Parts: sequence; C-alpha cells; structure tokens
Amino acid sequence: MAKKQKFQSPQGMHDILPEDQGYFEKLYSTAENIAAFYGFEKIETPILEFTELYEKGTGLNTDIVEKQMFSLRTKGGDSLTMRPEFTPGVMRAFIQHGMMNLPQPVKLYSIGPVFRYESPQAGRFRQFRQVNFEVFGEKSPAIDAQVIQAFYNLLSELKFKNLVIEVNSIGASCCRPYFKKILTSYLRSRVNSLCLDCKRRVRENPLRFLDCKEEKCQPIKAQAPQIIDHLCEECNNHFKETLEFLDELGLPYRLNPYLVRGLDYYTKTVFEIFNETPSLEGTLPVALIGGGRYDNLGKVVGGKDIPACGGAAGVERIVNEMKKNKLRVSADTKKEVFLAQVGDLAKKKSLKLFEEFRKAKIPVAESLSKDSLKVQLTRADRLNVRYALILGQKEALEKTVILRDMKNGIQDTYKIEKAVSEIKKRLKRKK
Ligand code: HAM
Repeated sequence: MAKKQKFQSPQGMHDILPEDQGYFEKLYSTAENIAAFYGFEKIETPILEFTELYEKGTGLNTDIVEKQMFSLRTKGGDSLTMRPEFTPGVMRAFIQHGMMNLPQPVKLYSIGPVFRYESPQAGRFRQFRQVNFEVFGEKSPAIDAQVIQAFYNLLSELKFKNLVIEVNSIGASCCRPYFKKILTSYLRSRVNSLCLDCKRRVRENPLRFLDCKEEKCQPIKAQAPQIIDHLCEECNNHFKETLEFLDELGLPYRLNPYLVRGLDYYTKTVFEIFNETPSLEGTLPVALIGGGRYDNLGKVVGGKDIPACGGAAGVERIVNEMKKNKLRVSADTKKEVFLAQVGDLAKKKSLKLFEEFRKAKIPVAESLSKDSLKVQLTRADRLNVRYALILGQKEALEKTVILRDMKNGIQDTYKIEKAVSEIKKRLKRKK
C-alpha cells in the first residue's frame, strides 16, 4: 500500500482543484449577476473579527459560538475569531461606516470563506464558502420575499429543478419569550424522554429542540406547541404578508413550524432552501441556503435599531449538488483554437500570435514546451478544439501559418497576419 503523504490538508478543509473551478466560477458569476440585478453592492470584511462580535451577535448559546469557532489570541492580547459567518461582520461594517445615513435600504453582498470547527461529515466542512446577501434599513416583508426570491433565482439559474423553500416565523422579543415559556414547561413535563442534547436545550435554548433530528425526540416534537400559534399581532401580520408576497411571486414554499435556525439573532421570518431530487431518495436533503430577518442585531452590535434581512448560500454544498445532479456548467472557458509550433523561430512567432488572439478575445490553448507536433496535435484533440494553427520552421520563415480544421482534417495556409481574422470568420460561421 502506498505510504500516506505526511502533509495532508487539515480535516474538513479542501483544495479546490482546477477541474472543479468551473463550477465555482459559474456560481460566483451567477451570484454577481443576481446581486447586480437586485441592487446589492459588494462589501469585503476582514476574515478576523473580535471574538465578542460573534459571542454577542451570533449568540452565546449557539453551536457556532459554543463549539465551532476558530479563535486566536494576538500578541497584543486581543481575542480574534475567523469568521464563522458573514452577518455580524457586515452589520458591524454597516454601522462603523455610517451607512445608516445613506438612502435606505442598503443592500450588501459578500463572497468568501468562512470557518467552523464542525465534526466532519458529508456536507459539513471546517472551511467552506458562502455567498451572502444582506439588506439593511427596511422593515417591510417585501424585503423578506425579495431576499428569498434572489436566492431562489440563484439556484434556478444554475438549473436546479426541484427546489423547495421552507419558511417559518419565530416571532420577536414581543412574543417569543412567552412562547419559550410555554415550550419550556411542555418540555419539562417530558424531560426524561428527551435526547441528551435536548435535555440541556430545555435550560439553555429551548427553541433548538424544535429542529432536533434525534429519533427519540420526534414524537414529543409532533405534540409540541407551535410558535406560529403564539405570534403577536405585528409578527403575525408580517408573516402573513411575507407569504402573500411569496404567493404573488409564485415561489414554491412550504411552511415548516419546526424551522428555527441555529443562530440567535433571527426575528420573524426564517427560511431555508433545499434541492429535493427524486432520484436521490434515501439521502437527507441538506439546506443549500439559509437566512431570515434579524431586526435586533443592530442593537447588539452597535446600539442602533436597524431592521435587516438576509441569507447565505453554502457554495460547496451547491457545487456538490450541481455535480451529483450532473448540472453542467457552460464551457465559458472552452478553447476554440490550439496553437502548435515546432522550432525556435516558430516559437517566437507563435508567442506574438498568441497575444493577438488574446487582444481579439478568442480563447487559445498553446504548448510552448519542446513537444513534437504529434504530441501537440493529440493535446489539441483532447481539448476538443475546432481549429489548430501550426507554425513550423518553413512557415515561420515564410511568415505563414497552417490552419487545420480538426473535425475534417482539411488544412489551408494563410499569411500569419491573417490568422486571427480567418479564425474569427470561421468561428462566426460556426455559430
Ligand atoms: P447558516 O444556515 O449557518 O446561515 O449557513 C448558510 C449556509 O451555509 C447553509 O445553508 C449551508 O449551505 C452552508 N453551510 C453551513 N455550515 C456549513 C458547513 N459546515 N459546511 C458546508 N456548508 C455549510 C448563516 O451563516 C447566516 N449568516 C445566514 C444569514 C445571512 N442570515 C441572515 N443573513
């Protein structure tokens, strides 16, 4: 057996190899187009933030803060944490840069890596990427619906066909404390039948019981009080209107009374988007996107009331689904032409010709190593290019180039300065 290489990437952290880059780039460019359409502007925040931002923002009783943060102490004694999510950092930046003085709402998006010390399992990584959308300064449920729509469109544009949006409302400080009391007393009366985690949750974060996946807790969950029956009038109206907007937009949603999300800052609307592929029955669908409204985070982070709503897409999970479901990425970077050369003079000339193709924005593959013509043409074949340009010693001296149609093998010779325009002409004809 081959000896395992001493250095491997850290657990839960992956290389993204060249053959997968196409999926990532396709996702990013689609996300950027959607962001532009809905008026989101890009913001980049540091990977490290003060640990306290997440303790206060994401919440002390969340899995993220309890057990998943990569934190470090600086030489100066500060405790910093590698962002486990974007939301608190983007809210911090919004307040720090006085963006509440801009015309509202302000819509911001980010793309980049986030870090969570998860126990490794399928679809759970320790370094993964998110596409994150946030809208600040608008209370209207129209924004909740628009955020959901923007994320839904992201997946539709990537050709996902079996999308389901799950929505719920978890109320706010006006009604949730009361619901928590009702739920806690219900759970206390059944505490002996709960799983270990939920026994603890009864004390610390009873709402999380509602999304427990343990077999043992399911019958208790089925009988548990539901938060939508206990919303105050304002939260209830907000939820009703959000659903009306979703109906109006024709989005395929279903109500999930058990959806509470694992982060402390949410108020009112919460949502997740799944891809449910019938052919993959037996595998539990994982959320590709999650988000919701969080009207209290502004106060926690900067002492200011700032209504806000947003969500994040898990890039690796989406790419995995694209691959599993054979959702092909369009071959934007597919090369149409291969430039082959033999001999020193031909190499010099082909370097220049290569640059002319770049200026003409025609993707060209080349091989400037000392390979034989045969090796180069085999490579051209493998790249599935339509045309090969061949520059040998003779052609270099005569300032010509051979143009070979790789489909039928027909070759013509052109003056080297005509090569770009001839290829352009042929590619146009091909379309
Ligand atoms: P989240 O649900 O924690 O929400 O993460 C959003 C998405 O990131 C998930 O739906 C999933 O696709 C992906 N994800 C989460 N954990 C992992 C993991 N360990 N490995 C791979 N992918 C993962 C948030 O992060 C909120 N900040 C979203 C938000 C923005 N809410 C309001 N604004």
